[in-house]
Amino acid sequence: MTRTIEELIPEYIRGLPVYVPGKPIEEVERELKIHAVKLASNENPLGPSPKGMEAARAALNDANRYPDGGTLWLREKIAALHEVSPDEIFIGLGSSEIIDLASRVLLRPGTIGLTSKGTYPPFSTAIRANGGAVEHVPMCAFAYDLPEMAHAMTSATRIIYLANPNNPTGTAFGAEEFERFLSHVASDTLVVLDEAYIHYAERTDMPQSVELFRLRRNLLILRTFSKVYGMAGMRIGYGIGAAALVAAMNKLRTPFNVSGVAQAAARGALDDHQHVKRCIEANQVERKRIVEEVAKLGLKPVKSETNFVFVEAGPEAKGISDDLLREGVIVRPLGWMGFPEAIRISVGATEENNKLFGALGRVLAKREGKPELTAR
Ligand SMILES: Cc1ncc(COP(=O)(O)O)c(C=O)c1O
Repeated sequence: MTRTIEELIPEYIRGLPVYVPGKPIEEVERELKIHAVKLASNENPLGPSPKGMEAARAALNDANRYPDGGTLWLREKIAALHEVSPDEIFIGLGSSEIIDLASRVLLRPGTIGLTSKGTYPPFSTAIRANGGAVEHVPMCAFAYDLPEMAHAMTSATRIIYLANPNNPTGTAFGAEEFERFLSHVASDTLVVLDEAYIHYAERTDMPQSVELFRLRRNLLILRTFSKVYGMAGMRIGYGIGAAALVAAMNKLRTPFNVSGVAQAAARGALDDHQHVKRCIEANQVERKRIVEEVAKLGLKPVKSETNFVFVEAGPEAKGISDDLLREGVIVRPLGWMGFPEAIRISVGATEENNKLFGALGRVLAKREGKPELTAR
């Protein structure tokens, strides 16, 4: 009997969840025929780094050529910035690519990848897609429970994924807690420390990850140009890790994974200290406004170290998000991430946030008028 292509796809791949991206703004505007604001994908509302874009525009003239597949200039620049060797820098098609490649290098059936519940879904996808089994440790007060994660490690644990600060809860762990955790990690287990939101953290005791990397090579630090540099559409990020791991990931990636335009944009953006500073400051101001306004409206925001706010909204969370959508405000209901009673609101520009406050006020007032809500 002949088998179908579908039957040839391994069960562990067929069973993978599909990553659900935030609803595109164009789709909402077309469907509802209204002007919409998107506060759903933790993007930078102030736009891309001007220096990055200037460099990208210049690089477009060479679009007939393949890019530097070895990303030498950019790796040298990033290596100098962090005082590590260029061999310890991997340039990825966003940090998303690196999340997957780390598991591709280290996992196979019979191995385990460890992460937390309530964290960035691509971590478990990477583990499962590469034949590993996922172990999820429950959170504690919307934060990673690092002592419990240390207990959950076994000799089969090859990789551990941590986002610090975490998406979607916005919480972060400090240096002391992380160093205690690391002291339990065996030298043949890789800790992937995803610092996509690190620039936005207000905590003053954040781990000095690169210094820790110098002391122990079983750490892979991930950074992205998608957040504070405002270049999510460019698809570029980097990892800092042991040269042997970087070399192995280089063998697996496609030869020209990152475009020359994106490489140039990243080089320009790294010099754009003014843009970074402006984005961090604006985020701080607007994040505070969101926290205060949603609390005034009776919802419960969780303290955020990121460019978004995780908000406890009760059993009506999904309905509230749907109503906001009809008002032209796209936020993220978090049922698919394991929090059916929460929504995630990305910090927008002042005007966008004002639109959110108005819409949220109307949505909640209307819902309060409904019999099933007043009955509670
Ligand atoms: C924790 C975390 N890591 C990685 C990414 C993906 O970043 P990139 O655009 O670099 O692939 C995101 C995106 O939202 C994220 O929240």
